[in-house]
Amino acid sequence: MIGECTFRVFRGDASGGELKEYRVPVETGMVVLDAIHWIQAHAAPDLACRWNCKAARCGSCSAEVNGRPKLMCKTRLDDFPQGEPITVRPMKAFPIVRDLVTDVKSNYAMAKKIPAFTPAENASWKWYQQDIDRVQEFRKCIQCFLCQDVCHVLREHNKHDVFAGPAFFVQAAAMEMHPIDVADRTPLLRESLGIGFCNITKCCTEVCPESIHITDNAIIPLKERLVDRYYDPLLRLWRKLRGR
Ligand code: SF4
Ligand code: SF4
Ligand code: FES
Repeated sequence: MIGECTFRVFRGDASGGELKEYRVPVETGMVVLDAIHWIQAHAAPDLACRWNCKAARCGSCSAEVNGRPKLMCKTRLDDFPQGEPITVRPMKAFPIVRDLVTDVKSNYAMAKKIPAFTPAENASWKWYQQDIDRVQEFRKCIQCFLCQDVCHVLREHNKHDVFAGPAFFVQAAAMEMHPIDVADRTPLLRESLGIGFCNITKCCTEVCPESIHITDNAIIPLKERLVDRYYDPLLRLWRKLRGR
């Protein structure tokens, strides 16, 4: 043991709650999730938190640590100033269930709206490496929803019904930019996925634990496709001449 650390952990549910203080013995290499487990084992067995892999793979231990969206299993205690308390709260953008657990089902409803991978019939399965690299980045998403949590369109404006959010622009980009996918998700992105609400603040990119370049590599190219489709005057003229 190398000392003790004070944790202030949110305890409560949709009807209200408060930060409760716990003193936790600290050992070298500990992460925030270890401290939560220690609290469950020694001080508050009814403290609710969601986790599965403890290896930054399953995306389920998302919370706000000192106000920043983080995976608790990837957040080391030695990243924080020694002697200062560490605050752990549930993600703010989603309805609370209890303590550190939030209801993230709006994300799964949004995921269902996006057409699945649709390869062309008789497509060639020989691709250039650069095409693979482009979509491989998006495949790293672990659906932790930290990007959704930090996005002001969801967090401050609560537009869960009309705005897919950065995680699902990543999902859409993975298929839209796939070399043999032929489904057209552009009208969907413009309408029910609400990509127009995104004003490219890049907050989502800053918190992604997989370092996906959400704005530069997914959102901006998708927005460019929309501009080409709906607002390029030459393309509009061409379509008009061809009666389309
Ligand atoms: S860049 Fe867009 S999607 Fe990302 S946090 Fe900002 S508004 Fe939300
Ligand atoms: S894009 Fe990054 S932050 Fe968003 S859900 Fe996927 S892994 Fe998490
Ligand atoms: S427990 Fe799986 S990502 Fe943290």
